[in-house]
Amino acid sequence: MVGEGGVMERVGVVGCGLMGAGIAEVCARAGMDVVVVESSEVAAAAGRMRLAKSLERAEAKGRIESASEVLGRLRLATELDALADREIVVEAIVEDEAAKTDLFRKLDEIVVSPTAIFASNTSSIPIMKLGVATSRPQNVIGVHFFNPVPVLRLVELVPSLLTSTDTTERARALVEGVLGKKAIDCQDRAGFVVNALLIPFVLSAIRMLESGFATAEDIDQGLVLGAAHPQGPLALADLIGLDTTKAVAESLYEEFKEPLYAAPPLLARMVDAGLLGRKSGRGFYTYA
Ligand code: NAI
Repeated sequence: MVGEGGVMERVGVVGCGLMGAGIAEVCARAGMDVVVVESSEVAAAAGRMRLAKSLERAEAKGRIESASEVLGRLRLATELDALADREIVVEAIVEDEAAKTDLFRKLDEIVVSPTAIFASNTSSIPIMKLGVATSRPQNVIGVHFFNPVPVLRLVELVPSLLTSTDTTERARALVEGVLGKKAIDCQDRAGFVVNALLIPFVLSAIRMLESGFATAEDIDQGLVLGAAHPQGPLALADLIGLDTTKAVAESLYEEFKEPLYAAPPLLARMVDAGLLGRKSGRGFYTYA
């Protein structure tokens, strides 16, 4: 049921990196009016390029009729003031608590509608911390998309203890009814459902490699051919980014203090070395 505020049409996205661009794209493809805010002109230009390339690929594959029509619904800006009239704002900036709480504080001052939803795509920062940075924590919710956003159907909905049912149900109506995704409900705990299960699995594979038990190729082949996974855990870590994998492991460890969430030394050393996976060209595998 959609309560006060009705179906949302005007969305704001803050951050136009890997995730923000994907979120902005799926919203514009669903017919929404999208304003994306980046931190500088250079970052906004890079974001616009990222969006245009992705939409052109989607058009070439016949997934959308017209990339330029979808681009027409996307506006890039560098000032948060551009979000004043939004019905929902989805935050997808760096995974840094201070940066995010500062942003939520500013959004609270700028966004006018009292029913506007403030959503965060955070993977590990408690939604409660973002909620209490605003004067309306009942409107703050975690809406956690998966990479690549246009392809993966899942969204985790994460209300905090103070999030209203109306906010949760309006977020669900957007995610399922407008964006065509599938939402699952999780409590406000580090890792939510998917990362709390996936990260210890990836860490176990790294420990297995580190101990010399098997090669990276054999570990990955084992899971692909023996358990029908679409890719092995080490290739997956390279895709997520080893820095991100380590950061999520650390926040899970911080929350639960369980050894299974502790980042193995090999992962820490690889991050120190700048071997971050696909994005740096080398991780457990080398990329052209
Ligand atoms: P990214 O580094 O690709 O993008 C972050 C973007 O935010 C950058 O373009 C940066 O210029 C911009 N930015 C930083 N501070 C800003 C500010 N104050 N105002 C406006 N723009 C700002 O990061 P990515 O991977 O897109 O992650 C974003 C969020 O999504 C993080 O919270 C992350 O934990 C979460 N996430 C990441 C996933 C992944 O697979 N990478 C999956 C699901 C969630």
